[in-house]
Amino acid sequence: MEKAVINQTELAIYQGDITDCAVDAIVNAANRSLLGGGGVDGAIHRAAGPQLLAECRTLGGCQTGEAKLTKGYCLPAAHVIHTVGPVWQGGNHQEAQLLASCYRRTLAIADAENFRTLAFSAISTGVYGYPIAEAAQIAVRTVKEYLIAHPDVPLRKIWFVCYDNTVAEAYSQALENKQQGDK
Ligand code: APR
Repeated sequence: MEKAVINQTELAIYQGDITDCAVDAIVNAANRSLLGGGGVDGAIHRAAGPQLLAECRTLGGCQTGEAKLTKGYCLPAAHVIHTVGPVWQGGNHQEAQLLASCYRRTLAIADAENFRTLAFSAISTGVYGYPIAEAAQIAVRTVKEYLIAHPDVPLRKIWFVCYDNTVAEAYSQALENKQQGDK
């Protein structure tokens, strides 16, 4: 399944480069310094240009599970919400709670800013090593729970941006509400 609708908000999967997304905000998988890095963080900073780093320098970093807002500068997206996912350490270090918090805190910012469109990257599923199927389940479940609990949220479209097939398949299963390994 590629789509789901909760109240007035459509959830969909987009397979491609998040720096191409012309939305109110794209969600960056950052690190606690907020000073850039590799992966999607590096791609977003390269596409946004040096003003993004300059603004990030004023934010004083970001705790794991928290999120902070900046402008999008040269990106087609108007804003970037930087969130810091947990590093996978086997599953007994609050990883699931921290990852869910990334999605909740990001949605709270999008809600407060009256954003109508939002594109998430697959937080923690790259360098931070979070098992992809589990991360996708947490992402989709947390977003759905937030939308159910906040029926008046202005968001009308949320994309889960998947850079490769494996991640796209995991998100597709999660959207179908299938558990890992279900047929
Ligand atoms: N567009 C969309 N998704 C992308 C892109 C892109 N241009 N580039 C990479 N991705 C995907 C990866 O394939 C992965 O599924 O983003 C997901 C998150 O992977 P990472 O970018 O490695 O982020 P994460 O696992 O959260 O690790 C964060 O990596 O880049 C550093 O500074 C970052 O230290 C932080 C750490």
